[in-house]
Amino acid sequence: MVTGASTADLAVILIDARKGVLTQTRRHSYLAHLIGIRNIVLAVNKMDLVDYDQSTFEHIVADYRAFAKEIGIADFVPMPISGFKGDNITTLSENTPWYKGPTLVDHLETVEVDSTLDQQKTFRMPVQWVNRPNLDFRGFSGLIATGTLAPGDAVRVLPSGKTSTVSRIVTFDGELDLAVAGQSVTVCLADEIDCSRGDVIAAADAPPQVSDQFETTLVWMNDEPLTVGRAYWLKMGAQMVSVTVQEPKFKVDVNSMEHLAAKTLELNEIGVAEIATDKPIVFEPYEVDQALGGFILIDKMSNATVAAGMLHFSLRRAQNVHWQALDIGRKQHADLKNQKPAVLWFTGLSGSGKSTIANLVEKKLHRMNRHTFLLDGDNVRHGLNKDLGFTEADRIENIRRVGEVSKLMADAGLIVVTAFISPFRAEREMVRSMLPDGEFIEVFIDTPLEVAEARDVKGLYKKARSGELKNFTGIDSPYEAPQNPEIRIDTTSMSPEDAASFIVDKLLGDI
Ligand code: ADX
Repeated sequence: MVTGASTADLAVILIDARKGVLTQTRRHSYLAHLIGIRNIVLAVNKMDLVDYDQSTFEHIVADYRAFAKEIGIADFVPMPISGFKGDNITTLSENTPWYKGPTLVDHLETVEVDSTLDQQKTFRMPVQWVNRPNLDFRGFSGLIATGTLAPGDAVRVLPSGKTSTVSRIVTFDGELDLAVAGQSVTVCLADEIDCSRGDVIAAADAPPQVSDQFETTLVWMNDEPLTVGRAYWLKMGAQMVSVTVQEPKFKVDVNSMEHLAAKTLELNEIGVAEIATDKPIVFEPYEVDQALGGFILIDKMSNATVAAGMLHFSLRRAQNVHWQALDIGRKQHADLKNQKPAVLWFTGLSGSGKSTIANLVEKKLHRMNRHTFLLDGDNVRHGLNKDLGFTEADRIENIRRVGEVSKLMADAGLIVVTAFISPFRAEREMVRSMLPDGEFIEVFIDTPLEVAEARDVKGLYKKARSGELKNFTGIDSPYEAPQNPEIRIDTTSMSPEDAASFIVDKLLGDI
């Protein structure tokens, strides 16, 4: 419903006259309003089954009016109908002499929709495609979301902020003197400025905003609940970025409109949460511009669309915290150490041998005069991450922080070795994506559960089996083995010493 309704001008909310206003009615009305549909028809259906009783109809309308007011629906058009018998669909029905119209079809054909309103707003066009058939022609194609555009207009390309003027507006049917919201066009600019798919061309004097942290409303649409802190894809028009969602501020009970505390969002739940994207995006509040404020979230592993969302506003901290450009960068740091930075990311079950082998690898590299640093799960959890436990959310946050620290250390020119269970593929991939290509080297310490459990160096498997320790990886918490690790070590056929030599040999060419 959410994706279908996002381009609709009008919603017909159907109510069964025998049942009245249901949770589903409230949910759909709330969503329709959230999505920005301002024309609402309340069609009270199956009037034939309540003997066309006027007071039944009026009761339902009064009920709905009370609810509508609460969620901010200012007005709606109530109609008593029977889809089955045809009452008040195309002609006014004799069965409801107390209803003076309009009929449903009359209303749909004559209601005023807001397409002209879009044209009165300032100009914005998300670029869907850079059209460059030959060296003489370069145009930017897209659907004009709002406003109008004419040759000679001053425009600004976001997020770069570069300005130019429109030289031509080209369409399949020839050139235009004026293009308006709702038209698909190719815009040519007077200057050679950078502009690519996902950028937005806007009126030069009133450009949209650019930010990377927002408050949003999310409608969760997947069986798998929201995982706080996990990276999803955010797709908004042609813009696609990586995004993480914070713990919701609240979720909304669609019956009472109450704000309830929430740790996550489950199927069909609606909540308000802050999100952070990995790159700035061009946006408008959803209220102002649905094309630049409405988005979907996609699971990176399954590719399923998991949520629809609406941007409210950019968080002030995103605007006030700037990126400081520094003169001594990662290259200078690495050059001085005469090495190429890398992150050797060990992953595997508890007791698989990660720490032992990582320790030997660091010793070997150290002897070879390499500048290294080893981050180990048990140690980091005594300091930086001592506030974290072993729930899914805490493990994700554990890996996110370790990823950020590893990245800083790699920026400092170091060869970083990490030893964390890091049980989830999504977070390992997130760390990979934070680093330059080739710098993240995933080392899978592949020890079967039976072997790790038989070793049980710390006695933790025994505790987990007896139920004394909950959420233990491999027992009652999952481990997602790497599918394509750069290096795989089978500890059942290789000693720790041999494994360490094997890893260092593989690495040498690179660092
Ligand atoms: S991770 O899953 O978040 O990557 P991490 O590597 O930091 O885990 O910590 C794992 C270490 O914590 C294990 O080697 C073990 O010593 C200890 N530990 C304590 N409780 C658990 C648990 N429930 N599951 C896994 N490891 C645990």
